[in-house]
Amino acid sequence: MSKLFVKKQLSVLTAEAGESDKGLKRTLGAGSLIALGIGAIIGAGLFVRTAAAAGQHAGPAVTISFIIAAIGCALAGLCYAEFASMIPIAGSAYTYSYATLGEFIAWIIGWDLVLEYALAGATVAIGWSQYLNKLLSNVFHVTIPYEWSHSPFEVSDAGVHGIMNVPSLFILLALTLLLIRGTQGSAIVNNIIVITKVSIVLMFIVLGWQFINPANHAAFTIPATAGTVKMHNGQIVDYSNFWNHGWGGVLRGAGVVFFAFIGFDAVSTAAQETKNPKKNMPIGILVSLAICTVLYILFSFVLTGIAPFQDFLKAGGEASVAYVIDTYMTGYGWLSTFITVAILAGFSSVILVMLLGQTRVFYSMSNDGLVPPIFARLHPKYHTPYRSQWMFFVFVSLFAAFVPDNVVGDMTSIGTLFAFVLVCIGVIVMRKNNPNAPRAFKTPLVPFIPALGAIFCLTMIISLGLENWARLFVWLGIGFLIYFGYSVKHSKARKMMDQK
Ligand code: ALA
Repeated sequence: MSKLFVKKQLSVLTAEAGESDKGLKRTLGAGSLIALGIGAIIGAGLFVRTAAAAGQHAGPAVTISFIIAAIGCALAGLCYAEFASMIPIAGSAYTYSYATLGEFIAWIIGWDLVLEYALAGATVAIGWSQYLNKLLSNVFHVTIPYEWSHSPFEVSDAGVHGIMNVPSLFILLALTLLLIRGTQGSAIVNNIIVITKVSIVLMFIVLGWQFINPANHAAFTIPATAGTVKMHNGQIVDYSNFWNHGWGGVLRGAGVVFFAFIGFDAVSTAAQETKNPKKNMPIGILVSLAICTVLYILFSFVLTGIAPFQDFLKAGGEASVAYVIDTYMTGYGWLSTFITVAILAGFSSVILVMLLGQTRVFYSMSNDGLVPPIFARLHPKYHTPYRSQWMFFVFVSLFAAFVPDNVVGDMTSIGTLFAFVLVCIGVIVMRKNNPNAPRAFKTPLVPFIPALGAIFCLTMIISLGLENWARLFVWLGIGFLIYFGYSVKHSKARKMMDQK
């Protein structure tokens, strides 16, 4: 067998999971996992990216974009659940693929997951900064100056250029410190935030319903003739472009709002900290995904019903939910403030899970020798990978401070979609190579479901367009340099293979 495709044995993986008492602690049950899932799922995807997808691509048909993205996620989620129930150890898609598709593919996925977790963390931190500004302006009538709350690639309608997004750094730092104290404490905070988050989504749906103006839903998709518009951040949107109107726009919208579902897979990265992971993992993944899907469809229907989609290119392009309430829901100023506060808390829980997921993937990769040992160094008292947490704080901060949310958001989507495609294929391969391995949860109708999952995710990848593919290729190129420069020399699976 070529060393490039050396596989990590299931028995080795299971033995490592058994040893977890020495490292990470098993403290999470099914309820905590669902909370962890919802905590990671509902965030900037819903409260920021929905408006971007509606305004730039899909119009009110963003509800359909949500359905397309949800189907892709559900199919991939079924594959995730099978893997997670078979391989109850930390590492997400990375770990699963190491056991099925071999080291090289595992590396690609692990590397790709950095785009998912780290850049999602950055995107949400940018959204946090938008809502913080909204809160400051509504309650205290002050705002953080444009240049200190935007990236250098953005320019306001008044011609002010962004320099650096400072508030996003603040929230990243606070949560990094919390995570270093340990995931058990973070899970309690997370549970409280999740209840608040689901409540505000429900409140917006119920109270906003009466403000829906049917005229806003009249043209369901964006017409090709809608012209060219300069957005609030200086970016130009040309609606005649295939991906900016009609059903092309709906598909692209799916790629954009796919971001809103990211996180259900982060549940699987906590497998090593989960009690009875074989049962609790699939429950955590699928239940959290189902709850969020229903909420998203209703939420986006109400949002695009209250405001015309063109608003989301202008003033409604930032902190969109608060904007919609302030502008169209007369008498509900209190709701805007309440929701903004809750969103700030809600975004924090997403960033928390993203930063957690990121360090846990690198923890596994480091234990396997694919990235340096520093990423697996645990804190002597808190048993958390604190050095890794600090390094990712710096990495995520660079993106949050200096890159616009559109760019990091879509990079997150494409990176995650690519990992999902490989996970779907992984299930098919695993059934062939390891037909008799015990599976607490089985993906139904294999290979049909995984193949369909891969097709949905690939379609969304295509819709994200040339620029995003280019970014993905550059990222993968950097990954290959590290893999062939470092990982092949330090890989433990390769060393074991040499000894045989
Ligand atoms: N799904 C997460 C969010 O929407 C990443 O913020």
